[in-house]
Amino acid sequence: MDKQRKILILAGDGIGPEVCNQARKVLELVNNKYDLGLILQEGLVGGSAYEKTGKPLPEETLRLAKDSHAILLGAVGGPQWDNLDYDKRPERALLGLRSELELFANLRPAVLFKELTASSSLKPQKIEGLDLLIVRELTGGIYFGEKQRNESSASDLCIYHDYEVERIIRFAANLAKIRRNKLCSVDKANVLETSRLWRDVTTKIMASEFESVDIEHILVDAAAMYLISRPADFDVIVTENMFGDILTDEASMLSGSMGMLPSASLGDGAIGLYEPIHGSAPDIAGKGIANPCGMIGSVALLLRHSLNLHEEAALLEKAIYDAIENGARTLDIATNNEKILDTEEMTQVITNYLVK
Ligand code: IPM
Ligand code: MG
Repeated sequence: MDKQRKILILAGDGIGPEVCNQARKVLELVNNKYDLGLILQEGLVGGSAYEKTGKPLPEETLRLAKDSHAILLGAVGGPQWDNLDYDKRPERALLGLRSELELFANLRPAVLFKELTASSSLKPQKIEGLDLLIVRELTGGIYFGEKQRNESSASDLCIYHDYEVERIIRFAANLAKIRRNKLCSVDKANVLETSRLWRDVTTKIMASEFESVDIEHILVDAAAMYLISRPADFDVIVTENMFGDILTDEASMLSGSMGMLPSASLGDGAIGLYEPIHGSAPDIAGKGIANPCGMIGSVALLLRHSLNLHEEAALLEKAIYDAIENGARTLDIATNNEKILDTEEMTQVITNYLVK
Protein backbone atom coordinates (compact mmCIF):
# COMPACT_ATOMS: atom_id res chain seq x y z
CA MET A 1 0.00 0.00 0.00
CA ASP A 2 1.21 3.48 -0.80
CA LYS A 3 2.62 4.95 2.38
CA GLN A 4 1.86 8.39 1.01
CA ARG A 5 -1.80 7.74 1.40
CA LYS A 6 -1.87 6.46 4.96
CA ILE A 7 -3.09 8.82 7.66
CA LEU A 8 -2.80 7.74 11.29
CA ILE A 9 -5.31 9.09 13.78
CA LEU A 10 -4.13 9.15 17.39
CA ALA A 11 -7.08 10.38 19.42
CA GLY A 12 -5.42 10.22 22.86
CA ASP A 13 -7.02 11.48 26.05
CA GLY A 14 -9.66 13.88 27.39
CA ILE A 15 -11.42 15.68 24.59
CA GLY A 16 -8.94 14.18 22.08
CA PRO A 17 -11.28 11.39 20.94
CA GLU A 18 -14.26 13.77 20.62
CA VAL A 19 -12.49 16.26 18.39
CA CYS A 20 -10.67 13.49 16.48
CA ASN A 21 -14.00 11.87 15.60
CA GLN A 22 -15.05 15.11 13.98
CA ALA A 23 -11.72 15.53 12.20
CA ARG A 24 -12.10 12.02 10.87
CA LYS A 25 -15.52 12.86 9.45
CA VAL A 26 -14.11 15.93 7.75
CA LEU A 27 -11.13 14.02 6.38
CA GLU A 28 -13.39 11.28 5.04
CA LEU A 29 -15.53 13.88 3.36
CA VAL A 30 -12.51 15.55 1.76
CA ASN A 31 -11.16 12.12 0.81
CA ASN A 32 -14.36 11.24 -1.05
CA LYS A 33 -14.96 14.68 -2.50
CA TYR A 34 -11.54 14.92 -4.11
CA ASP A 35 -11.03 11.19 -4.57
CA LEU A 36 -7.74 11.25 -2.66
CA GLY A 37 -7.55 7.54 -1.91
CA LEU A 38 -6.46 8.16 1.69
CA ILE A 39 -6.39 5.20 4.07
CA LEU A 40 -7.26 6.18 7.64
CA GLN A 41 -5.83 4.13 10.50
CA GLU A 42 -6.05 4.50 14.26
CA GLY A 43 -3.64 3.93 17.12
CA LEU A 44 -3.25 4.33 20.87
CA VAL A 45 -1.37 7.21 22.45
CA GLY A 46 -0.98 8.96 25.81
CA GLY A 47 -2.71 8.00 29.05
CA SER A 48 -5.25 5.80 27.30
CA ALA A 49 -2.40 3.87 25.66
CA TYR A 50 -0.72 3.54 29.06
CA GLU A 51 -3.92 2.06 30.54
CA LYS A 52 -4.10 -0.58 27.82
CA THR A 53 -0.43 -1.39 27.25
CA GLY A 54 1.58 0.08 30.14
CA LYS A 55 3.25 2.52 27.74
CA PRO A 56 2.21 5.99 26.56
CA LEU A 57 3.75 5.32 23.15
CA PRO A 58 3.39 1.60 22.38
CA GLU A 59 5.75 0.09 19.75
CA GLU A 60 2.77 -0.65 17.54
CA THR A 61 1.82 3.04 17.49
CA LEU A 62 5.35 4.04 16.60
CA ARG A 63 5.41 1.44 13.84
CA LEU A 64 2.13 2.72 12.42
CA ALA A 65 3.38 6.30 12.70
CA LYS A 66 6.59 5.56 10.79
CA ASP A 67 4.55 3.81 8.13
CA SER A 68 2.20 6.78 7.68
CA HIS A 69 2.39 9.89 5.62
CA ALA A 70 0.78 12.05 8.24
CA ILE A 71 -0.58 11.84 11.77
CA LEU A 72 -3.57 13.57 13.29
CA LEU A 73 -3.30 13.77 17.05
CA GLY A 74 -6.07 14.83 19.44
CA ALA A 75 -4.53 15.51 22.86
CA VAL A 76 -2.71 13.66 25.61
CA GLY A 77 -2.68 13.91 29.40
CA GLY A 78 -4.99 14.15 32.38
CA PRO A 79 -4.81 14.47 36.16
CA GLN A 80 -5.10 10.71 36.72
CA TRP A 81 -1.63 10.24 35.21
CA ASP A 82 0.08 13.18 36.91
CA ASN A 83 1.92 11.08 39.45
CA LEU A 84 3.34 8.47 37.11
CA ASP A 85 7.10 8.13 36.60
CA TYR A 86 8.45 10.46 33.92
CA ASP A 87 8.78 7.68 31.34
CA LYS A 88 5.20 6.61 31.69
CA ARG A 89 3.58 10.00 31.55
CA PRO A 90 1.28 10.66 28.59
CA GLU A 91 3.41 13.66 27.47
CA ARG A 92 6.29 11.29 26.82
CA ALA A 93 4.35 9.98 23.84
CA LEU A 94 4.45 13.41 22.22
CA LEU A 95 8.15 13.84 22.90
CA GLY A 96 8.80 10.30 21.59
CA LEU A 97 6.90 10.91 18.36
CA ARG A 98 8.66 14.24 17.81
CA SER A 99 12.14 12.80 18.23
CA GLU A 100 11.56 9.41 16.55
CA LEU A 101 10.03 11.06 13.49
CA GLU A 102 12.53 13.96 13.59
CA LEU A 103 9.79 16.55 13.58
CA PHE A 104 12.06 19.45 14.39
CA ALA A 105 9.84 22.32 13.25
CA ASN A 106 6.67 23.17 15.11
CA LEU A 107 4.40 25.72 13.44
CA ARG A 108 1.93 27.47 15.68
CA PRO A 109 -0.02 30.32 14.13
CA ALA A 110 -1.90 32.99 16.05
CA VAL A 111 -4.47 34.70 13.91
CA LEU A 112 -7.43 36.85 14.73
CA PHE A 113 -10.89 35.74 13.77
CA LYS A 114 -12.45 39.19 13.44
CA GLU A 115 -15.80 38.10 14.84
CA LEU A 116 -14.09 36.77 17.97
CA THR A 117 -12.23 40.00 18.81
CA ALA A 118 -14.29 40.41 21.96
CA SER A 119 -12.95 37.10 23.35
CA SER A 120 -9.41 38.47 23.53
CA SER A 121 -8.16 39.81 26.82
CA LEU A 122 -6.38 42.55 24.88
CA LYS A 123 -8.03 45.72 23.60
CA PRO A 124 -9.36 45.36 20.02
CA GLN A 125 -6.95 48.02 18.69
CA LYS A 126 -3.96 46.04 20.03
CA ILE A 127 -4.82 42.87 18.15
CA GLU A 128 -6.12 44.37 14.96
CA GLY A 129 -4.20 42.79 12.09
CA LEU A 130 -2.80 40.01 14.26
CA ASP A 131 -1.37 37.30 12.01
CA LEU A 132 1.78 35.74 13.36
CA LEU A 133 3.41 32.37 13.11
CA ILE A 134 5.71 30.93 15.75
CA VAL A 135 8.19 28.37 14.51
CA ARG A 136 9.43 26.45 17.53
CA GLU A 137 12.46 24.16 17.43
CA LEU A 138 11.03 20.87 18.65
CA THR A 139 13.64 18.14 19.00
CA GLY A 140 16.57 19.81 20.77
CA GLY A 141 17.52 21.98 23.71
CA ILE A 142 16.70 21.39 27.33
CA TYR A 143 13.83 19.03 26.52
CA PHE A 144 16.15 16.37 25.17
CA GLY A 145 19.48 17.00 26.93
CA GLU A 146 20.75 14.66 29.62
CA LYS A 147 18.77 14.73 32.86
CA GLN A 148 20.25 14.03 36.26
CA ARG A 149 18.81 13.79 39.70
CA ASN A 150 20.24 12.96 43.07
CA GLU A 151 18.92 13.54 46.54
CA SER A 152 19.60 17.23 46.78
CA SER A 153 20.06 18.45 43.22
CA ALA A 154 18.89 18.03 39.68
CA SER A 155 19.92 19.19 36.23
CA ASP A 156 18.66 19.31 32.67
CA LEU A 157 21.27 19.85 30.01
CA CYS A 158 20.45 22.43 27.37
CA ILE A 159 22.44 21.64 24.25
CA TYR A 160 22.15 22.81 20.65
CA HIS A 161 24.27 21.80 17.67
CA ASP A 162 24.85 24.22 14.83
CA TYR A 163 23.06 21.99 12.30
CA GLU A 164 19.93 22.00 14.47
CA VAL A 165 19.89 25.79 14.50
CA GLU A 166 20.65 26.01 10.78
CA ARG A 167 17.76 23.81 9.71
CA ILE A 168 15.13 25.50 11.88
CA ILE A 169 16.28 28.98 10.78
CA ARG A 170 16.09 27.94 7.11
CA PHE A 171 12.66 26.48 7.73
CA ALA A 172 11.37 29.66 9.37
CA ALA A 173 13.03 32.01 6.87
CA ASN A 174 11.47 30.12 3.96
CA LEU A 175 8.08 30.59 5.58
CA ALA A 176 8.77 34.30 6.14
CA LYS A 177 9.54 34.57 2.42
CA ILE A 178 6.04 33.47 1.47
CA ARG A 179 4.50 35.70 4.15
CA ARG A 180 5.59 39.25 4.98
CA ASN A 181 9.36 38.80 4.83
CA LYS A 182 9.94 39.47 8.51
CA LEU A 183 11.70 37.06 10.80
CA CYS A 184 12.18 37.62 14.50
CA SER A 185 14.62 35.27 16.23
CA VAL A 186 14.10 34.97 19.98
CA ASP A 187 16.93 33.95 22.28
CA LYS A 188 18.60 34.81 25.60
CA ALA A 189 22.01 35.67 24.18
CA ASN A 190 22.81 38.01 27.08
CA VAL A 191 23.01 34.99 29.39
CA LEU A 192 23.05 31.62 27.64
CA GLU A 193 25.84 30.10 25.55
CA THR A 194 23.32 28.07 23.53
CA SER A 195 21.63 31.36 22.66
CA ARG A 196 24.91 32.93 21.55
CA LEU A 197 25.46 29.98 19.22
CA TRP A 198 21.85 30.36 18.04
CA ARG A 199 22.35 34.05 17.29
CA ASP A 200 25.68 33.54 15.49
CA VAL A 201 24.30 30.77 13.30
CA THR A 202 21.14 32.74 12.57
CA THR A 203 23.08 35.85 11.60
CA LYS A 204 25.26 33.83 9.24
CA ILE A 205 22.42 31.93 7.54
CA MET A 206 20.26 35.01 7.12
CA ALA A 207 23.09 37.09 5.62
CA SER A 208 24.21 34.42 3.19
CA GLU A 209 20.89 32.82 2.17
CA PHE A 210 18.00 35.14 2.98
CA GLU A 211 19.08 38.65 2.14
CA SER A 212 15.53 39.65 1.24
CA VAL A 213 14.11 38.72 4.65
CA ASP A 214 14.31 41.29 7.49
CA ILE A 215 15.86 39.68 10.54
CA GLU A 216 15.52 40.98 14.07
CA HIS A 217 16.92 39.39 17.25
CA ILE A 218 14.94 39.82 20.46
CA LEU A 219 15.63 38.54 23.96
CA VAL A 220 12.97 36.18 25.22
CA ASP A 221 11.85 38.31 28.16
CA ALA A 222 11.34 41.30 25.88
CA ALA A 223 9.59 39.09 23.33
CA ALA A 224 7.10 37.98 25.99
CA MET A 225 6.37 41.65 26.62
CA TYR A 226 6.10 42.70 22.95
CA LEU A 227 3.70 39.83 22.25
CA ILE A 228 1.29 41.60 24.57
CA SER A 229 2.15 45.22 23.78
CA ARG A 230 2.43 45.06 19.96
CA PRO A 231 1.55 41.57 18.72
CA ALA A 232 0.41 42.70 15.27
CA ASP A 233 3.98 43.82 14.44
CA PHE A 234 5.21 40.22 14.25
CA ASP A 235 5.24 38.04 11.17
CA VAL A 236 7.33 34.89 11.76
CA ILE A 237 8.98 34.27 15.12
CA VAL A 238 11.57 31.51 15.40
CA THR A 239 12.89 30.24 18.69
CA GLU A 240 14.32 27.29 20.60
CA ASN A 241 12.27 24.51 22.17
CA MET A 242 11.59 25.76 25.69
CA PHE A 243 11.12 29.45 24.83
CA GLY A 244 8.80 28.29 22.05
CA ASP A 245 6.74 26.21 24.46
CA ILE A 246 6.11 29.25 26.61
CA LEU A 247 5.68 31.87 23.89
CA THR A 248 3.26 29.72 21.87
CA ASP A 249 0.95 29.39 24.86
CA GLU A 250 1.14 33.13 25.37
CA ALA A 251 0.47 33.82 21.69
CA SER A 252 -2.47 31.42 21.61
CA MET A 253 -4.28 33.62 24.10
CA LEU A 254 -3.92 36.79 22.03
CA SER A 255 -6.88 35.97 19.88
CA GLY A 256 -8.76 34.68 22.92
CA SER A 257 -9.75 31.54 21.10
CA MET A 258 -7.29 28.79 21.81
CA GLY A 259 -9.86 26.25 20.65
CA MET A 260 -9.63 27.68 17.15
CA LEU A 261 -5.93 27.18 16.54
CA PRO A 262 -4.20 24.30 14.75
CA SER A 263 -0.54 23.34 14.70
CA ALA A 264 1.86 21.29 12.60
CA SER A 265 5.09 19.52 13.48
CA LEU A 266 7.27 18.92 10.45
CA GLY A 267 10.71 17.69 9.50
CA ASP A 268 12.78 17.31 6.35
CA GLY A 269 10.67 14.48 5.02
CA ALA A 270 7.02 14.64 4.06
CA ILE A 271 5.72 13.12 7.30
CA GLY A 272 3.98 15.56 9.57
CA LEU A 273 2.07 15.52 12.82
CA TYR A 274 -0.95 17.76 13.15
CA GLU A 275 -2.77 18.63 16.34
CA PRO A 276 -4.86 21.42 17.82
CA ILE A 277 -3.05 23.84 20.11
CA HIS A 278 -5.38 23.12 23.00
CA GLY A 279 -4.78 20.29 25.46
CA SER A 280 -6.93 17.40 26.66
CA ALA A 281 -9.26 19.67 28.71
CA PRO A 282 -10.24 17.00 31.27
CA ASP A 283 -12.82 19.35 32.80
CA ILE A 284 -15.06 19.17 29.74
CA ALA A 285 -14.07 15.71 28.45
CA GLY A 286 -16.93 13.40 27.53
CA LYS A 287 -19.50 16.18 27.39
CA GLY A 288 -19.41 16.63 23.63
CA ILE A 289 -19.03 20.39 23.90
CA ALA A 290 -15.39 20.91 22.89
CA ASN A 291 -14.59 23.24 20.03
CA PRO A 292 -13.53 21.08 17.05
CA CYS A 293 -12.15 24.02 15.01
CA GLY A 294 -8.50 23.68 16.07
CA MET A 295 -8.61 19.99 15.19
CA ILE A 296 -10.35 20.59 11.86
CA GLY A 297 -7.90 23.39 11.10
CA SER A 298 -5.17 20.80 11.72
CA VAL A 299 -6.72 18.68 8.97
CA ALA A 300 -6.33 21.69 6.67
CA LEU A 301 -2.64 21.98 7.62
CA LEU A 302 -2.25 18.26 6.92
CA LEU A 303 -3.72 18.69 3.45
CA ARG A 304 -1.35 21.60 2.78
CA HIS A 305 1.92 20.43 4.28
CA SER A 306 1.83 16.64 3.91
CA LEU A 307 -0.32 16.16 0.82
CA ASN A 308 0.45 19.36 -1.07
CA LEU A 309 -3.27 20.03 -1.50
CA HIS A 310 -3.15 23.80 -1.18
CA GLU A 311 -6.48 24.62 -2.70
CA GLU A 312 -8.32 21.97 -0.70
CA ALA A 313 -6.63 23.21 2.49
CA ALA A 314 -7.69 26.79 1.79
CA LEU A 315 -11.28 25.70 1.11
CA LEU A 316 -11.44 23.88 4.42
CA GLU A 317 -10.00 26.91 6.25
CA LYS A 318 -12.56 29.08 4.51
CA ALA A 319 -15.36 26.76 5.66
CA ILE A 320 -14.20 27.28 9.26
CA TYR A 321 -14.10 31.07 8.73
CA ASP A 322 -17.55 30.98 7.12
CA ALA A 323 -18.96 29.12 10.09
CA ILE A 324 -17.53 31.67 12.53
CA GLU A 325 -18.51 34.64 10.40
CA ASN A 326 -22.07 33.40 10.29
CA GLY A 327 -22.32 33.09 14.04
CA ALA A 328 -21.61 29.41 14.73
CA ARG A 329 -20.22 29.22 18.29
CA THR A 330 -19.16 26.52 20.68
CA LEU A 331 -19.22 27.35 24.39
CA ASP A 332 -15.58 28.51 24.57
CA ILE A 333 -16.04 31.24 21.97
CA ALA A 334 -19.58 32.37 22.70
CA THR A 335 -19.80 35.95 23.93
CA ASN A 336 -23.34 37.21 23.48
CA ASN A 337 -26.58 35.36 23.53
CA GLU A 338 -25.61 33.18 20.61
CA LYS A 339 -27.00 29.71 20.35
CA ILE A 340 -24.30 27.35 21.61
CA LEU A 341 -23.42 24.42 19.38
CA ASP A 342 -21.94 21.16 20.56
CA THR A 343 -18.88 19.57 18.96
CA GLU A 344 -20.86 17.63 16.40
CA GLU A 345 -23.15 20.51 15.43
CA MET A 346 -20.19 22.83 14.93
CA THR A 347 -18.57 20.28 12.64
CA GLN A 348 -21.82 19.93 10.74
CA VAL A 349 -21.94 23.68 10.09
CA ILE A 350 -18.36 23.60 8.80
CA THR A 351 -18.95 20.61 6.53
CA ASN A 352 -22.11 22.27 5.20
CA TYR A 353 -20.01 25.23 4.07
CA LEU A 354 -17.38 22.90 2.68
CA VAL A 355 -19.72 21.00 0.38
CA LYS A 356 -21.72 24.08 -0.63
C1 IPM B 1 3.27 21.46 23.92
C2 IPM B 1 3.13 20.80 25.27
C3 IPM B 1 4.24 19.78 25.38
C4 IPM B 1 5.56 20.50 25.33
C5 IPM B 1 4.15 18.89 26.64
C6 IPM B 1 2.80 18.22 26.75
C7 IPM B 1 5.26 17.89 26.68
O1 IPM B 1 3.17 21.73 26.28
O2 IPM B 1 3.15 20.77 22.91
O3 IPM B 1 3.47 22.67 23.90
O4 IPM B 1 6.04 21.01 26.35
O5 IPM B 1 6.13 20.56 24.25
MG1 MG C 1 3.25 23.74 25.62
